[in-house]
Amino acid sequence: MPLVNMKPLLRDAMENGYAVAAFNLVDYGSTKAMVKAAEELNAPVICQTSAKTIKFYSHKEIVSWVRTAAEDSPVPVVLHLDHCKDLEMIEACAKAGWTSIMIDASELPFEENLEMSKRVRDIADKYGVGMEAELGQIMGVEDDMVVAEEESVLTDPEDAQKFCDALDLSAFACAVGTAHGFYHGDPKVDFDRIEAINKLTKTPMALHGGTGLSDEVFRKAIERGAAKINISTNLKHVFVESFVKYHMENPKDFEPLRVIDAQYQACKLLFSSFIAKFGGENRAPAYLSKAA
Ligand code: 13P
Repeated sequence: MPLVNMKPLLRDAMENGYAVAAFNLVDYGSTKAMVKAAEELNAPVICQTSAKTIKFYSHKEIVSWVRTAAEDSPVPVVLHLDHCKDLEMIEACAKAGWTSIMIDASELPFEENLEMSKRVRDIADKYGVGMEAELGQIMGVEDDMVVAEEESVLTDPEDAQKFCDALDLSAFACAVGTAHGFYHGDPKVDFDRIEAINKLTKTPMALHGGTGLSDEVFRKAIERGAAKINISTNLKHVFVESFVKYHMENPKDFEPLRVIDAQYQACKLLFSSFIAKFGGENRAPAYLSKAA
């Protein structure tokens, strides 16, 4: 089916106590694997792209991969732009076929962040796509953005309410103690903050920094309003390690398709396990019946 807007998908997730998995795609194989994993579980999925990945390939290539993978699939697939600070790139994505865009102006003071995010609200409206914006600063390294632990600012629930009321977001990204990249030590996720933010904003929360969180953390975050959960680092590792592992185990096999297939299967397994963990299994029909 054609790519879908993120908003109704995440509303359904928030209202029914599950989260839609969002994976940062790397190439066509990993894109196809995430859509196939979703299809096998009859689940919705979000294929998302970092700005760096778009610059490496092109808008045209990425849209064609995701559309191709989704076209013959019966499950809803979103193409979302992850953390982006560049309004030109954001508009180019919306124009090229992304069905959701994210502005990350979280390093700016509240009013400037809101102002910049409102400009992206206009872009999202112009193209009829979903929108995510961020308030507070999430720790760790994502794309080329680095936020050290001492610089990270957890999101204030009342500011979050003002921000969300002004923006009508499909997903609200906020800092609740999770971090991009692998955790050093136990993550200190602030569940009370997740709950307080969700109560005031009534907006599906995007939980960033999914790699390395326990099943228990996922469950508690979803119960309190996390409706989109981002996974990137974990995929990067499986993508590289599965390729290397195949070659180490089969040093004389130089048939690329077998190597690529081993990588594809490993990525698909990773995607399936997260989709199922977040409660996405058999959730596609709810979206499809609402959309009909
Ligand atoms: P991880 O790299 O920790 O999985 O986080 C992904 C993310 O939040 C992308 O925005």
